[in-house]
Amino acid sequence: MTTLDELRAQINDVERDLNDCRVSVSDGPTLDAFRVEFLGRKGRVSQLFKTIGQLDPADRGEAGRLLNALKETAAQAVSGAEAAVRGDRPAERLDAERVDMSLPGSYSPFGHLHPLTIVQREIESIFLRMGFSVASGPEMETEYYNFDALNIPVEHPARADWDTFYIDETTLLRPHTSPVQIRVMEETQPPVRIICPGRCYRRDTQDATHSPVFHQIELLWVEEGLSLANLKYVLEVFTNEFFGEGYEMLFSGDYFPFTEPSVQVHIKAPGASDWLEIMGAGMVDPAVLEAVGYDAETYTGFAFGLGIERMAMLKYGIDDIRVFLTNDLRFLRQF
Ligand code: FA5
Repeated sequence: MTTLDELRAQINDVERDLNDCRVSVSDGPTLDAFRVEFLGRKGRVSQLFKTIGQLDPADRGEAGRLLNALKETAAQAVSGAEAAVRGDRPAERLDAERVDMSLPGSYSPFGHLHPLTIVQREIESIFLRMGFSVASGPEMETEYYNFDALNIPVEHPARADWDTFYIDETTLLRPHTSPVQIRVMEETQPPVRIICPGRCYRRDTQDATHSPVFHQIELLWVEEGLSLANLKYVLEVFTNEFFGEGYEMLFSGDYFPFTEPSVQVHIKAPGASDWLEIMGAGMVDPAVLEAVGYDAETYTGFAFGLGIERMAMLKYGIDDIRVFLTNDLRFLRQF
């Protein structure tokens, strides 16, 4: 039989030893031994808990409180010793983890816009100043918008001119930005004055002036009283602004099912001997206006689709379209 007083004396002994032993903890093994001696399953605190059963039942509550307090003291002593062994000394830690701000950092050069983006934005800004707004449409297009609504019914030979990549029976990667004309006119009433930049896809064999993936900017202006003369004027203002002095422009007759009459526009750089075709254009065919519910007796319009790569080639004197896609830094750094 143990008494409460005897237990108190034993608790005092353990507390004293706890302090003594803590001082001698200096590394991992001595820390483990310290923890096992006081907090282990057979450690000194556990042993004292076992004596509760030998006490007078009236004293057991008080004994429990005293022993829980001892257990808490021992746990704090062990975690204090642990922190000391880990070297949890803030000043030393700060010293060890100091960052040398004077070391050179890792170099991340500034990037810049791709030449095609530069040219696209420049063209956009010219037309925005002329009062056009920018529209967009999907690159995955339906046959309806890409062909039917543009007056190119099934079996029409002109479909072959825009031979492209089909996703399924009726969906394709758009070979031109003209379907956006239809999407915009379906949603708006005249006057319509939009440009639409975007990526296009064709099954064209790659050469110096053709790429299977390229970019166009579509323009559409529909209003009362527009004629081919207005188209020519807009193009002259635009090419003068974009290219500056010395570039020549040539119209040649062409055929597009969605314009009548239709033209190709060619540009010759100063001193160059060859013309480069930059866009197809024309007066919007009345059948297209009627397909979107416009009164073709009242409204006329013109449209064009120009190749952004070709514009960039002329402006910067680039003779091979492939350089835009090869990501050669020696080329890209020049812009
Ligand atoms: C068209 O795509 C018509 N949608 C243009 C149009 C719009 C006509 C509105 C009338 C009214 P075309 O197939 O000619 O037309 O292409 C227009 C321009 O896209 C060309 O002049 C050329 O600059 C560019 N282009 C066409 N195919 C390629 C290609 N494979 N690689 C690079 N540029 C191309």
